[in-house]
Amino acid sequence: QAVSVLIQVLENADQEPMVRHEAGEALGAIGSAETVDILRKYSKDPVVEVAETCELALERIKWLQDPDHHKEKLSTNPYASVDPAPPTLLTDVPKLKEILLNDGASLFERYRAMFALRNLRTGDAVSVLSSALTCGGALFRHEVAFVLGQLQDETSVPYLRRSLEDASENEMVRHECAEALGAIGSDDCYQILNRYLTDDKRVVKESCEIAFDMCEY
Ligand SMILES: [Fe+2]
Repeated sequence: QAVSVLIQVLENADQEPMVRHEAGEALGAIGSAETVDILRKYSKDPVVEVAETCELALERIKWLQDPDHHKEKLSTNPYASVDPAPPTLLTDVPKLKEILLNDGASLFERYRAMFALRNLRTGDAVSVLSSALTCGGALFRHEVAFVLGQLQDETSVPYLRRSLEDASENEMVRHECAEALGAIGSDDCYQILNRYLTDDKRVVKESCEIAFDMCEY
C-alpha cells in the first residue's frame, strides 16, 4: 500500500523534485525487490536529483540482495535513521575524505564514505563533511547538510550558513542547511535563521520558520 502511493508520487513529473526525491528515497529504504523496475526507469529521469535518488535506491537494494552483506561489520548508526547507503567499512579519515570528495567515484560509494564519517563523530570527520558542502551535485550536498544536522556540531555552523545564504544554491540544499542550523540551535543559528524568515523562496522561508521554532524550543 505505502509502496504504491510512493510510486505514484515518484511518477508525477508535476510534483516538486524534493517531494519526488523523498518518495524515491523511501522506496530505497523499504528496499523491496519489486520496485527495481520502476526505480530503474526513473534513474533516467530528466530531473537529476530524482534520477540520482533512484540510482542510490537501486544500489541499496542490490546491496541488500547480496547474501554476503550480513557479514560486513558495519559501524553503528547512532541516529537510528534508515540511511540511503550503508557506511563503508573504512575508518581512516583521509581515505574516507578522498572517496567523499571524488567526483569520479559512484554516488553510492561517496554516500558510504559519508555515513562512515558521520558514524565516527569526531572533529576531523565533521570538518571533512563540512568541506563537502560545496562539492558534488545538489543531491549529494543536501545529504551532507542532513548528516551535519544529525551531528549537531557547532563547528559546522559557518559552512551551513554559507550554503543557506547562497541564493544560487539549490533549494533542497538550502532547506537542509536551515534544518541543520535549527537542530544545532545555538545563538548564532538563531540569528542566521531569523534573517531568512522572509526569504522569497518558499521552501527556504518555511524551512527557516520550522528550524527557528526548533531553536526556540
Ligand atoms: Fe533527502
